[in-house]
Amino acid sequence: MRWIRAAGRGLLVAAVLLTGYIASGTPADGARGSGRGPLTLATAGDLTGYLAPLLDGWNRAHPDERVTLVELPDSADETHAQMTTDLRSGAGRFDVLNIDVAWTSEFAAAGWISPLQRDRFPLKSFLRPVVDTATYEGRLYAVPYVTNAGLLLYRKDILDKEGVEPPRTWAELEHQARTIAAKYGLDGYAGQFLPYEGLTVNAAEAVYSAGGTILGDEGERVTVNSAAAREGIGFLARGVRDGWIPQEALTFKEEESRQAFQDGRLLFLRNWPYAYVSASGKGSEVAGKIGAVPLPGPDGPGASVLGGSNLAVSTHARHPDSAAALIAYLTSERVQRQVLTEGALPPVRADLYQDPELIREFPYLPTLRAGVLAAAPRPKSPRYDQVSLAVQAVVHDAMTQQQTPEAAVRRLARELAAIARRG
Ligand code: GLC
Repeated sequence: MRWIRAAGRGLLVAAVLLTGYIASGTPADGARGSGRGPLTLATAGDLTGYLAPLLDGWNRAHPDERVTLVELPDSADETHAQMTTDLRSGAGRFDVLNIDVAWTSEFAAAGWISPLQRDRFPLKSFLRPVVDTATYEGRLYAVPYVTNAGLLLYRKDILDKEGVEPPRTWAELEHQARTIAAKYGLDGYAGQFLPYEGLTVNAAEAVYSAGGTILGDEGERVTVNSAAAREGIGFLARGVRDGWIPQEALTFKEEESRQAFQDGRLLFLRNWPYAYVSASGKGSEVAGKIGAVPLPGPDGPGASVLGGSNLAVSTHARHPDSAAALIAYLTSERVQRQVLTEGALPPVRADLYQDPELIREFPYLPTLRAGVLAAAPRPKSPRYDQVSLAVQAVVHDAMTQQQTPEAAVRRLARELAAIARRG
């Protein structure tokens, strides 16, 4: 805890120096002292065990600007529902919002979060693609906090025994998942296939890996009706049909899929890097037996979707300057390091990925950095919530064989066009 106290002292100074973070035109004005006081920070409840001690560090240094952590449900969709209900009603229970990177456009377009002043945050120190997820129509509406890229985790012990390299293509993945998994009594491949945001992520990765896209511009153009999208959705649907994706995976969110892999029931798992850390740790049946590689695609490495979350200030925030100062604290180098070492979550600060000490502890950092730099954002849309629901519903129907991939892609294109028309 020593570092937290030291960080607290340094940050007290920084916070005094940094005022007026919120772009003009909002109620905030730290210089006049009107924007300082206690706060709430709302976040999805999963993987937040590390966060309370970080916030204690802030609270000790800022007794008049104490932050209270509000933990919402684990799943991205339920958190989205609770945040938007609160924001729509104007109840203003949440001052700082830890929002999924996919939601920035929607929250900004709805006027729920305040634009921020770019020069007040160390955006140049962040990995390049993450900053884009925090902007809407050219303005900064949030500050990147955690990033994420999908990895393929695999059972290294088993592939070594079989004398094969981890798969680089879908055909290799499919072949190994069918033949090798069965030989060892394992299921082949899983991702997050329950209809929720995680399925949108997995579907977008399959489509992007095949060279396709879903929407163009900031949501105005529908681009999903392509051979690439059919190939991507076809890959997922075929897996369930042919049994190398187990039925059970249709109920998996991140945690259920991690548990299955960690219990030694799966040969391959698509998940975020935290799952690698967890499956390598105490209590894991597969600790020391796993590896991680980039996601495969049809003819070579595929594409990951950019995950992660951004910190935004609600337009109803009671104390916007304290809110912005808290964001500066949470994105400071020292706290970002803790996000990795204590939370096993990928930080947004680029330097940390090249830190030899951290690489020793988290050997996947170079792969992850490459993954984040190459990752593709989810479709940007002011109606992202609707877009994601449409993707989930359609891809679920394709994976449960209720619709062919061809019909599913045609239907998705129609539904997305209807959403775009509503504007
Ligand atoms: C992770 C990612 C987030 C994504 C979610 C899907 O939390 O960081 O961006 O939307 O998973 O379940």
